[in-house]
Order: sequence, then C-alpha cells, then structure tokens
Amino acid sequence: MSAQTTLAVEKLGLAQTRRHIFLCARPAKQKCCDAELAAESWEHLKKRLQQLGLSELGGVQRSKVDCLRICAEGPIAVVYPDGVWYRNCTPENLDRIIAQHLVEGRIVEELRIAGPLSPT
Ligand code: FES
Repeated sequence: MSAQTTLAVEKLGLAQTRRHIFLCARPAKQKCCDAELAAESWEHLKKRLQQLGLSELGGVQRSKVDCLRICAEGPIAVVYPDGVWYRNCTPENLDRIIAQHLVEGRIVEELRIAGPLSPT
C-alpha cells in the first residue's frame, strides 16, 4: 500500500469506522425528492456528524451518492454494515437516524423501508 493510501486511511479513521451512511443527494439528478431538500439533507448530515464528533475518527463515515434506485419518498439512505434502508431522510429525520441508529445501533422502524441484512 502506498504512503498516500496509508495516510488517507488514517485520516479517514477507517480502523475506527463502525457504520457508513450513504445518502442519495445529487441535485442535478434527484428523482426521489426535491433537489433542494436533498442538498439540505446532505449538508445537515455532514454538519451534524461533525458537531457530534462522529465523523471519521468518531466512527461514522458518510457518502453522498447517486440514485439508490428507490426513487420515491426521498432522500433515501442506506446504513452499512447493517444493510438498513431509510426513506424521507429530511434533516429532522436524519437527526433521529443519527441518534438512534448510528450512535445506539437501534433501527428507526418508522422510516425503515428494507433491511437489516440477514446474518450469513
Ligand atoms: S433519485 Fe434518490 S433513490 Fe433514485
């Protein structure tokens, strides 16, 4: 592994990562919700994880992704390694997902649309 890769892995805190949330938020292509809402949700997610000390070394990774192929009731998110999918990921609902799922490991049933993955 190159020194650059090693540095990036350390900087991202990959050894400490417990969960990774992927949020559908590509305003130019947004089909599951209003593009402004998707952008607002993404900015809120980044800010809140930072405020709570959860980003990177705090154990939570976040990624803005293209369409997650649900294309309704967005923004859509999926949390790994649990494999839980969520709908209506507004800033307010993301606060619930962060506090309950990302921190405590409890699924937010009211927003869940699929998952968790079955153990193999
Ligand atoms: S555009 Fe968000 S899931 Fe398809």
